[in-house]
Amino acid sequence: MHYSDFGLADTKTLLKQAMRQGYAVPAFNLYNMETLTAILDAAKITQSPVILAVSESALEYMGGDILMGMIRGAEYKRGQIALHLDHGHSFDVCKYACELGFSSVMFDGSALPLDKNISESRRVADYVHKFGMSLETELGVLAGTEDKNTTAKNHSFTNPELVKDFVRQTKTDSLAVAIGTTHGAYKRKSANESLRFDILEKITENIPNTPLVLHGASSIPQKYVNQINKFGGDVKNAHGTSPAQIRRAIKMHIAKVNVDSDSRFAFTAAIRKTLATKPEIFDPRTYLSKATDEMTKNCIDEIQNIMGSGYKF
Ligand code: G3H
Ligand code: 13P
Ligand code: ZN
Repeated sequence: MHYSDFGLADTKTLLKQAMRQGYAVPAFNLYNMETLTAILDAAKITQSPVILAVSESALEYMGGDILMGMIRGAEYKRGQIALHLDHGHSFDVCKYACELGFSSVMFDGSALPLDKNISESRRVADYVHKFGMSLETELGVLAGTEDKNTTAKNHSFTNPELVKDFVRQTKTDSLAVAIGTTHGAYKRKSANESLRFDILEKITENIPNTPLVLHGASSIPQKYVNQINKFGGDVKNAHGTSPAQIRRAIKMHIAKVNVDSDSRFAFTAAIRKTLATKPEIFDPRTYLSKATDEMTKNCIDEIQNIMGSGYKF
């Protein structure tokens, strides 16, 4: 099936508009019915364009047929919501996402040597463009644990001198850049560690028409860290990227901002509190509804206070 048959949006169109108007489209990760519902409710309430991000491992966890069954059954406005493969590591998984009806894929060749990253990205571009889908690629490496396939100990910032040729050779529609954000819940060394805006500025000068993507952009709200720790969890030193820095990056052509960890924190904090304070509960629907509502609340907060994408649809 084609993404337009599901009423899904063209990611490229969403990102171009965001870049022109100086806001970012949030890409929230999902893994089940509850996280899908949380994201779509937030999109509806805020009237924001939203990208549903599905990682390779989330696709494996749900199964393609179940995922697409949920998308078919979900309610959203035509053209408001895009479905995107997050961190696809092979041509085959990108092709599979295309066949399922995704709007776009990320081919993540950031761990490959540059020439291989370019040739594989171009191969995916040539394939997905035939179906009107769009492609995100990555140049540079983010530190942190991305998924079970990718963990990098150190950053390797995007080299601004390479981006123009990379975009031309790969035919990518958007580019993920490494400017100091980190995947996961343990990001900065110190509270005031800054993103590399100098690098971002040079990148935007060299590829002024390419929407940029910020991965590892969770801000890790401390209220959730505290709530998890208070009710039996142990995520003591979790800390994120400051919302002010993300807002500043959005004004510099970051048109897609990826958030996963914040949703995990909101969801888990709500479950821990519910189970700890109401020990008589054993119906999963009771605590999963609380978790869904908390995740919706957090997505709304980020749309309104970080992305600036509310009322853009
Ligand atoms: O950046 C990657 C996402 O946070 C996905 O992680 O593979 O654990 O679903 P996951
Ligand atoms: P966080 O771990 O900061 O939420 O990053 C998510 C991400 O980049 C998904 O691709
Ligand atoms: Zn990522």
